[in-house]
Amino acid sequence: MTDNTAPSQSVGPEYLPIGRKPTATVSTNLAHDNVTILPQTSQLIALLTMIRDKNTGRADFIFHSNRIIRLLVEEGLNHLPVVEHTITTPVGRTYSGVKFEGKICGVSIMRAGESMEQALRECCRSVRIGKILIQRDEETSKPKLYYDKLPEDIAERWVLLLDPMLATGGSALMAVEVLKSRGVPEDHILFLNLIASPEGAKNFAERFPKVRVVTAFVDMGLDEKNYIVPGLGDFGDRFYTM
Ligand code: PRP
Ligand code: URA
Repeated sequence: MTDNTAPSQSVGPEYLPIGRKPTATVSTNLAHDNVTILPQTSQLIALLTMIRDKNTGRADFIFHSNRIIRLLVEEGLNHLPVVEHTITTPVGRTYSGVKFEGKICGVSIMRAGESMEQALRECCRSVRIGKILIQRDEETSKPKLYYDKLPEDIAERWVLLLDPMLATGGSALMAVEVLKSRGVPEDHILFLNLIASPEGAKNFAERFPKVRVVTAFVDMGLDEKNYIVPGLGDFGDRFYTM
């Protein structure tokens, strides 16, 4: 485990004085320009507290994870390019706005990454979804690639790569290699992640500095089994089977 203690900070509404706000453990910042950590709001910390709790049952785990995943997708979409777009409102005024221009697709790292597809579909109707099945070996923590099925024209799309957990970084690195082998430029990949370890995030950000990462939280480190700590346990098990 790294000696990277996430700092405690006061969280809560602006109108409460510091002395009356609770303190909570907030994300460690990373010195990598390509990593965006969601604002550590009281809502986000409360949602994370819920899903980290070992006593949270499956229904609540799914519900609260989905809320965080929705925040990740909404923030991720902010990193895609837009062009000027001026419209006329029903009262006859013009409004100079923007619109997204370009094709996107989601790619989930199965199994846990599939949990993030619904939020992407809710934000981007009829979005194409590709799948990469990578499983981490329970003994060695090394990733193994079993299967991939990706849109034919993926090289022309912006790719939102989905996986809630970034531990050693091995699975995410392997997934990016698969995307690159299909012609996707690194700077057209955006990795959406719920919890990262500092070492996994650093490995990933340094190996692929042009891939943007949006995460909700950078944790303290990894334990002897390469599980994220404090973490939330096995995301796939808690979301799908427990
Ligand atoms: C988990 C997780 C990531 C990977 C992270 O998947 O969803 O894909 O481990 O670990 P890493 O950064 O050390 O590679 P797992 O292989 O356990 O499969 P699952 O999605 O079926 O739970
Ligand atoms: N995969 C998980 O689901 N959790 C971890 O902490 C590490 C890998």
